[in-house]
Amino acid sequence: MMAPSFPSYAAEASLVMRPIPKSSDGEKLPVIGLGTAQDFGARREVEEKTQVLKSLLEGGGKIVDTAANYARGSSEELIGELLEENNLRSKAFIATKFGERGRENGIESMERSFVSLRTDMIDLMFVHNMIDVDTHLPSLRDYKDQGRIRYFGVTSTGRNQDELTRWMDQLDFVEFAYAVDSREAEQRLLPMAADKGVAVLVALPLGRGRLLSAMRGKEVPEWAKEELNCHSYAQLLLKFVASHPNVTAAIPGTNNPKHMVENLDAGRGPMADAKQRERIAALWG
Ligand SMILES: NC(=O)c1ccc[n+]([C@@H]2O[C@H](COP(=O)([O-])OP(=O)(O)OC[C@H]3O[C@@H](n4cnc5c(N)ncnc54)[C@H](OP(=O)(O)O)[C@@H]3O)[C@@H](O)[C@H]2O)c1
Repeated sequence: MMAPSFPSYAAEASLVMRPIPKSSDGEKLPVIGLGTAQDFGARREVEEKTQVLKSLLEGGGKIVDTAANYARGSSEELIGELLEENNLRSKAFIATKFGERGRENGIESMERSFVSLRTDMIDLMFVHNMIDVDTHLPSLRDYKDQGRIRYFGVTSTGRNQDELTRWMDQLDFVEFAYAVDSREAEQRLLPMAADKGVAVLVALPLGRGRLLSAMRGKEVPEWAKEELNCHSYAQLLLKFVASHPNVTAAIPGTNNPKHMVENLDAGRGPMADAKQRERIAALWG
């Protein structure tokens, strides 16, 4: 397959990195990763998906966010296969999730994830959508003590995502939705995560694509190109999220290698200051 032709506007610049507050050795993550909720596991266009992973990991990105139930388990399987076949496991920071009731079901799901992802260490294990969190926290601590996972957390992207605050004291990471048109997380979740030293992955930074549809046919303003090196609305949306000082990384979903390159470039400098972030949001006002 041909390499993506989308011009890499700032490929020479490094991706902005953010610290994982609970890391014992100062580990940092690049501010843009990859989400795989939308059909990544389907066994078609596998060449493109291989190229998405290569573009991410060879372009300085790291985070691959998946879940046991994405594409009925086949997202984890395809990621495991492609990382192994292309010798890329060591470059990736794998985040996955399980959404089960009961201790045993949670453990079984985690064990299946190791097999599907073809790895003996998962970087980040989430309880998906806050399902039975209190039951699973002791298992997650055990897995972390054994070195089988390196970090753990809880995700939620629903209306009740503020409930994540209940566990914030006990977590390494949280994952929730945040975008120009859904900024509720600025009130409680983002400040509390910073206060408690919890890393933040942002899901749905493009509003599942609806925010891009709203801008179809419109030119990106000149100031965004000149001041922020943003040449597409996707880059503006990602820069808005990634520039929030309490966000560790945004994980836009894509199955398109050109989009992956474009998205990564939004994680290179300059980042937007508070005023520029408001100016970006106002474009969708
Ligand atoms: N509860 C949870 O834990 C939870 C819930 C939802 C999501 N998540 C995570 O968050 C990730 C992100 O959410 P999402 O994937 O649902 O939505 P999203 O990232 O907001 O949007 C993805 C959509 O944007 C399109 N897109 C991506 N980059 C683009 C670009 N540069 N130009 C034009 N279109 C572009 C994608 O299509 P193409 O494939 O054509 O690029 C896809 O349709 C998920 O993949 C998942 O990993 C977690």
